[in-house]
Amino acid sequence: MKSACLSLLLVSVCWALPFRQSGFMDFMMEDEPGSGSPMPPVRKPPVQTPPPMLPEVPDEHICPFRCQCHLRVSQCSDLGLKNVPEKISLQTTLLDLQNNKISEIKENDFKGLKSLQTLILVNNKITIIHAKAFSSLINLERLYLSKNLLKDVPANIPKSLQELRIHENQINKIKKSSFAGMANVIVMELGSNPLSSSGVDNGAFADLKRVSYIRIADTNITSIPKGLPSSLFELHLDGNKITKVTADSLKGLKNLSKLGLSHNEISVVENGSLANMPHLRELHLDNNMLTSVPSGLPEHKYIQVIYLHANKIAAVGTEDFCPPGYNTKKAMYSGISLFSNPVPYWEVQPITFRCVFDRSAIQLGNYRKK
Ligand SMILES: *[C@@H]1O[C@H](CO)[C@@H](O)[C@H](O)[C@H]1NC(C)=O
Ligand SMILES: *[C@@H]1O[C@H](CO)[C@@H](O)[C@H](O)[C@H]1NC(C)=O
Ligand SMILES: *[C@@H]1O[C@H](CO)[C@@H](O)[C@H](O)[C@H]1NC(C)=O
Repeated sequence: MKSACLSLLLVSVCWALPFRQSGFMDFMMEDEPGSGSPMPPVRKPPVQTPPPMLPEVPDEHICPFRCQCHLRVSQCSDLGLKNVPEKISLQTTLLDLQNNKISEIKENDFKGLKSLQTLILVNNKITIIHAKAFSSLINLERLYLSKNLLKDVPANIPKSLQELRIHENQINKIKKSSFAGMANVIVMELGSNPLSSSGVDNGAFADLKRVSYIRIADTNITSIPKGLPSSLFELHLDGNKITKVTADSLKGLKNLSKLGLSHNEISVVENGSLANMPHLRELHLDNNMLTSVPSGLPEHKYIQVIYLHANKIAAVGTEDFCPPGYNTKKAMYSGISLFSNPVPYWEVQPITFRCVFDRSAIQLGNYRKK
């Protein structure tokens, strides 16, 4: 995937979705010897000389009944399993248990799996995870728990974790303690959980010193979570009930490049919000209740994409997007959308977009009268 991206010169596209392409095959590839993967090497346990008489199965050949094991991947998906199978090879680096009927993770289910890097439990019926269930997993980097019935973020997630996906569960509260000390997390996916207005504690993400991507979409939160880490590169909060973009909530997000706020109930973007995100390139505010274009766009150096379609914007001023004068804006807009707003497109003066070099970047018309 990576080399394909480069060879097609779609670097920016790959950049846009840095963590999405990691499918199952990628992990398999990473376990191929000599694949040049950037993964940290896993320490191989010392080779044991088998006792001469007993025909013992070496650990690396152990595979739970009906699972398929190859290299250090144990593939046990889609088997109707009600429990985590026994006798998983202790050398397993990837354990795939998705699409089963597991309802409970017990204390010793993953005991001794010190090499495990990726644990996939997506689409089971998990309601309970024992507080010590992950204690052996000292090298776990990816934990995929989406599509289960969890009511809480599990306790004692290994500190080595880099990626947590726990969307589509029953979590109604993100506590400050949920992610305490998880300084290695890069990707956090929490969407489609029944989080309500006060569902995210202030500073709940403060310990995630390296986090680059957070997605909390399709919940009922009414405000942007407070105390987001300054390492954030992408923040996706689409499909919530956020009513207001406060400058304060975006303070210090110096690296933020993409902010998704589509399909909320935003009527106000406070002055100074954009200035708090000086490296923002993409801002999605479509399908909200804005009555005017947010302030700060003409002064912003890097903004390229601003989606404002399907709002209640009734007027667009000539200074809303571009600085006064010509050829003064450093970054080039590549996408501005304003359609499905009450402003009639013929009332928007062409001079409004004087700093936009590619006219096809502007989507203006199509307002349908009801
Ligand atoms: C949000 O609230 C509505 C109304 O209370 C409810 O029907 C819906 O299921 C909630 N959404 C989520 C993701 O919890
Ligand atoms: C912002 O990004 C740069 C370049 O990727 C990085 O060196 C820096 O540490 C980041 N800042 C924070 C606060 O994470
Ligand atoms: C925001 O800025 C605009 C002009 O940039 C100004 O007219 C407006 O009063 C300001 N609003 C607030 C609440 O400060």
